[in-house]
Amino acid sequence: MSRRKIIAGNWKMNETPTEAKALVELLKPLVNNPDVDVVYGVPAIDITTVVEAVKGTNVQVAAENMYFEEKGAYTGEISPAMLVDAGVKYVILGHSERRGYFHETSEEINKKILKCFEHGLTPIMCCGESLEQREQGITMDWIRQQVKVGFQHVTADQAKTAVIAYEPIWAIGTGKTATADQAEEVCKGIRDCIAEIYDTDTAEAIRIQYGGSMKAANCKELLAKPDIDGGLIGGASLKAEFAEIVNYNK
Ligand code: 13P
Repeated sequence: MSRRKIIAGNWKMNETPTEAKALVELLKPLVNNPDVDVVYGVPAIDITTVVEAVKGTNVQVAAENMYFEEKGAYTGEISPAMLVDAGVKYVILGHSERRGYFHETSEEINKKILKCFEHGLTPIMCCGESLEQREQGITMDWIRQQVKVGFQHVTADQAKTAVIAYEPIWAIGTGKTATADQAEEVCKGIRDCIAEIYDTDTAEAIRIQYGGSMKAANCKELLAKPDIDGGLIGGASLKAEFAEIVNYNK
């Protein structure tokens, strides 16, 4: 089965609303690949501006986090209904920076994933190992655990529409990309894990991205791999280079 590629930017904590508008305008004439789903993952404060700025293009907007409660006394948090109302379609969840700096657990990420589906949002669940874990040879055990807990109580039909981003922590923001073979090995391992939890149809449908120093110079090789269905791009999503990644097959 052929899966549609999904190339997403993760802007992280970059771009004020004014800068966000300028970045969308810079990318607008350059990002135009009908073969690819394009997503801008943007800080909460930029969402309204970016949703407005991408109108009339095929770009969708992602939030970088979301809370799992419906509403109430959770100062500083953002609810699923708020994101839906603002025009968001995807939510990046469980990024290693959120797991690391903000102590998010796979159990919490699981609750957020379930909430996404309740509200018609598509989760992009991040997973990935540290350098120490890779050196200890426990990469796949760790990632399988992250996927299994993250997808608890998610139905096969829901899982088919989800996105998983494999992001080795040692490759994020370091300029050190996983080789295409390393990335493919883990993305295939994630697909096998989904087949074990559900079935081969679900495994064939779910989209798995690679993230970690993906850039114009290495994206073609990564995206040519059979189990890599796209990219989650940090640094290179903040400049014109992002368009070269989106247009990787041109
Ligand atoms: P870089 O592309 O800057 O390495 O970041 C990857 C990432 O964390 C995307 O979520």
